[in-house]
Amino acid sequence: MPSTPSRPVTVITGASAGIGRAAAVELAPRAEIVLVGRDPERLDDALAAVVAAGGHDAAAYRCDFADLAAVRDLAAVLHATYERVDVLACNAGVLVPKATTTTDGFELTVQVNHLAGFLLANLLRDRLTGGRVITTSSGAHIGGRIEPGAFGTPAKYRRWKAYADSKQANILFTREAARRWGPEVLTAAFHPGAVRSRFGDDNPFFRLAKRLPGFVSPETGAKTLVWLATAAPGDFTSGGYYVRGKRHAPSAAASDDEVAHELWESGAKAVGLR
Ligand SMILES: NC(=O)c1ccc[n+]([C@@H]2O[C@H](COP(=O)([O-])OP(=O)(O)OC[C@H]3O[C@@H](n4cnc5c(N)ncnc54)[C@H](OP(=O)(O)O)[C@@H]3O)[C@@H](O)[C@H]2O)c1
Repeated sequence: MPSTPSRPVTVITGASAGIGRAAAVELAPRAEIVLVGRDPERLDDALAAVVAAGGHDAAAYRCDFADLAAVRDLAAVLHATYERVDVLACNAGVLVPKATTTTDGFELTVQVNHLAGFLLANLLRDRLTGGRVITTSSGAHIGGRIEPGAFGTPAKYRRWKAYADSKQANILFTREAARRWGPEVLTAAFHPGAVRSRFGDDNPFFRLAKRLPGFVSPETGAKTLVWLATAAPGDFTSGGYYVRGKRHAPSAAASDDEVAHELWESGAKAVGLR
């Protein structure tokens, strides 16, 4: 039988490091934290930090989003374990240095950053009634021009283009989910700022850039996520994009409702929801 915890069930993907881990630790005294991560050691370490911060009932699940069968298994376990999910934070994300195609046949960046979270949210939809889906996007979305349905690896792969497209997809997903699932499920996307995390560590320029003063700690980067996870429903606009706790207009390409609709339909077909 699924359980009905008294505290809000808060599932955070990408919780084994960086922004997701910082948000999980910050929310630990107030929520039943469910960490999702890929690396077993980092995940164990994050779970210990959450427990130490007051999250005595926290749980951790390992899942590699490069494999959609693993995402389906994760959704089945969460579905069986929790009667409701109050917050689903789709936060896992990567910048992929080289063109990589997953076993599902999709380009790795779009699969990890968009399709996996899209699938997980859809599979947990009935558990999310009365809850919210918060997605970690990025200011980098402004360079995105995603083509709905074109989820394969292009002949000419460019890592930042793939990343920007996936972050644009995060905002389009958020808008379309608000339209389809509102008001039962609230949604929001946000930019965490430039964060000194493990993100982009395999890129020497990004590693250097992280020493610059404009970069903030994962704890600071997690603030908008924590706020969106705990704010009263009327305090933010469902479907909106947030930066430092304030609503921002995303790029025109990330505000295109027709593209949002097509992205949803093509994504659903691609991941086997249709
Ligand atoms: N850092 C920035 O400046 C910045 C700026 C804007 C937006 N963001 C976004 O913020 C989010 C969190 O990034 P971060 O800065 O906290 O980076 P991070 O420290 O590298 O954390 C990334 C998280 O995503 C997980 N992840 C990566 N690949 C995965 C996969 N194949 N399957 C499942 N989980 C996977 C990682 O899991 P493991 O650790 O277990 O491998 C980790 O928990 C990302 O969506 C990123 O795009 C970051």
